[in-house]
Amino acid sequence: MLKVAMIGYGYWGPKLARNFHNSKNFEIKYIIDKSSKQLNFAKSEYPFAIVSNKYNDIDTNKVDLVVISTPTKSHYKLGEYFLKKTNVLIEKPLALSSKQVLKLNNISKIFKTHIFVDYPFIFSGSINYIKKLILNKKFGKLLEIESYREQAPIRDDANVVWDLGVHDISIFYYLLGSNPSSIKSTIFKTGKNKLNDSAYINMKYKNNLNIFIRNSWISPVKIRIIKFKFEKAILICDENEPIYKVKIYQKKGSNDLLFNIEIPEINLSEPLFNLVEYVARSIKKNTNHIFKNNFNYNVTKVLEKI
Ligand SMILES: NC(=O)c1ccc[n+]([C@@H]2O[C@H](COP(=O)([O-])OP(=O)(O)OC[C@H]3O[C@@H](n4cnc5c(N)ncnc54)[C@H](O)[C@@H]3O)[C@@H](O)[C@H]2O)c1
Repeated sequence: MLKVAMIGYGYWGPKLARNFHNSKNFEIKYIIDKSSKQLNFAKSEYPFAIVSNKYNDIDTNKVDLVVISTPTKSHYKLGEYFLKKTNVLIEKPLALSSKQVLKLNNISKIFKTHIFVDYPFIFSGSINYIKKLILNKKFGKLLEIESYREQAPIRDDANVVWDLGVHDISIFYYLLGSNPSSIKSTIFKTGKNKLNDSAYINMKYKNNLNIFIRNSWISPVKIRIIKFKFEKAILICDENEPIYKVKIYQKKGSNDLLFNIEIPEINLSEPLFNLVEYVARSIKKNTNHIFKNNFNYNVTKVLEKI
């Protein structure tokens, strides 16, 4: 059984903890948070875990993985400290610049430890189903993608693109395996927030593929929709749908307004659980195929360009 230490038990930390707890591969050894209220909450949920408000209380000889789900501005410092000792799973966005990502990559190379990042959608059944369709060209060439991602807790250390757009950028890097050749973006504030809360982004890829992204924290409804327009079909992927997450629309005859709809069966297991199991397999086999080849660096480079 692999041992895990979790740092940061605010909004997202408990979701990670639940998935590590549900995995047969992991045992939660430590939960660390600065806040005594959050530590009391953690202790009530996982009474067997050691809780502390100091991350250097973690005995890194006794853990196989440290999970960092603290605010983004602390990721680099904590990552640098722990990667010298053990494997680390860091929340998105991994860091606040590509320079920091390069430094973390170098540390992990020197100390032979692994960096994993929680980009949950690249572990979702729907995105992996769509990846296969892109690769086998079942519906012909991919012509255009539109992504709408709205509503999330407003942050003061990473703007809406680094916070929400990072999901889009990681999904598109995972699906296409390359970065865009050109980017145009408009990023702005609609509220009295410290950082930009809304964005429109257009990215052009090879073979004339156009991607449009709309990100906003400011929305009364939570939207997580991506439309994939292929030559022979349009796919709509809605991660908020509980079961029917992917719908395939194909034109019926010559009428442009009539479509047949197919709802394929996809793997519905929770993306965070798939991530946890990926991390377990990677640590046991000492591999990390998703995050090798500069995945995190390339994603961060696009965020910087935007
Ligand atoms: N993958 C996703 O879909 C997803 C979703 C939500 C949040 N996140 C990411 O998770 C991270 C945390 O977000 P959140 O919404 O949970 O924030 P949060 O503010 O709700 O929780 C952060 C917790 O970390 C604690 N903390 C801060 N600094 C600490 C330190 N040095 N040592 C120990 N504890 C410390 C705080 O007390 C707090 O309880 C962010 O980077 C965010 O982008 C990812």
